[in-house]
Amino acid sequence: MEMRNAQMLVVHAAELIPCAGPVQGIRAAALDRLEAIADGALAIVDGRIAEVGTSASILSRYEAPEVIDATGCLVSPAFVDSHSHLLHGGTRHEEYDAKVTGRREVPLDGGIRYTVRKTREASDEALLARARADLDAMLVHGTATLEAKTGYGLEREQEMRLLRLTAGLRHTVQVVPTYLPLHVLPDGYGDRRAEYIAEAIAALPQAARLAVYCDVSCDPLCFTFEECLEVGEAARALGMRIRVHADQNGDGSGALLAARLRASAADHLDYANDAGLRAMAEAGTVATLLPGVTLHMCEMTPRVAGAALRPAEKPFMPLLARRAIDAGAVVSLSTDYNPGSCPTPSMQMVMQLAARLYRLSYAQIWNMCTLNAARALDLSHDRGSLEPGKRADVLLWSVPTHGLAINRFGVNQVDTVIVEGRVVVREGRLLSSSTVGVNR
Ligand code: NIG
Ligand code: FE
Repeated sequence: MEMRNAQMLVVHAAELIPCAGPVQGIRAAALDRLEAIADGALAIVDGRIAEVGTSASILSRYEAPEVIDATGCLVSPAFVDSHSHLLHGGTRHEEYDAKVTGRREVPLDGGIRYTVRKTREASDEALLARARADLDAMLVHGTATLEAKTGYGLEREQEMRLLRLTAGLRHTVQVVPTYLPLHVLPDGYGDRRAEYIAEAIAALPQAARLAVYCDVSCDPLCFTFEECLEVGEAARALGMRIRVHADQNGDGSGALLAARLRASAADHLDYANDAGLRAMAEAGTVATLLPGVTLHMCEMTPRVAGAALRPAEKPFMPLLARRAIDAGAVVSLSTDYNPGSCPTPSMQMVMQLAARLYRLSYAQIWNMCTLNAARALDLSHDRGSLEPGKRADVLLWSVPTHGLAINRFGVNQVDTVIVEGRVVVREGRLLSSSTVGVNR
């Protein structure tokens, strides 16, 4: 048989998980199935996956100048992380201490406005340097694609600055920009809500030139169904796609809103109602759960007047995932990386928390962090699984099986990261400047 030339082969994986599935995403019982190829291998041509199979079949048909021996390693797709607040100033570790110990009162909004102030005060250079360092950490932990929102600018000029800085990041991790005008109402707008909504809508044409998505927070602590609908419809009319922070602190009909707007994804969903989840399943809106937030905010209702906004009984955590799966939704997982509700940049941590908090199977978790996560960013035709034609974004793990990658926790278990067919991390370390960019 004639040998084909590849750019790179990865061979002799203890286990290779393609995480393949339909471009619309994986649902229901299929979430619990995961193919694992023993002695697995793949061939890469022009930065794309050419073929996946056993080492015997790949080695009999391909030759390449670079052959990576994955003996003893799990091989998986790289992660897609579909929800982050990457650009921000300051930290909120002191607020967290106050919350954990209950010694001081903390603001009802969880301090978002504090981060807004710190972000405004930070120089462009400081914001970029911090974001790049965070992207480096994400890459080393296996993330090759990241959604990044604004939302700590709030007023137009500051929001546009954050969008411009996001566009200027140039990093190996591909960053997908989202404009989040409806995060919280800025200080001083208490009795001028309509004015703020009108300003957000007026800024949309400018935002649409820099961002793929428009995000709105539909939640009793943030914005109403009607306010979010108005902004969401205006954004759609300009060709933007929609994401929703839905029902994080109470049922604000955020899930229904997301379905109505045909949003790409709705995230959080802690207090979403079943009708909303079913409507999302029907609309093809991905339900993204954020176990890092679930853990970080766990049982820490702010000690403030109005805290009764949270129902007396918190939702039983395992039900969170089960209800979304049973509703038939495409379920995915993400970090929601931000300084307040989830300061971890690691999708490995997200996988490990999802098992413990939501009682999901290893198979469900892998499908939710790969193909379904790519679907949440409308990228499942291009990445999120190891299938012919897709981007060669590949991880080699220091553990041999997909279950162990979730069962062990607390250390980085990604050894090698390949992005578009290029090794960018080896033995857990960045090889060179990660800004030698493939980020277009
Ligand atoms: O968890 N509606 C917003 N919720 C944000 C909070 C971010 C923060 O605390 O700074 C979220 O996604
Ligand atoms: Fe968020």
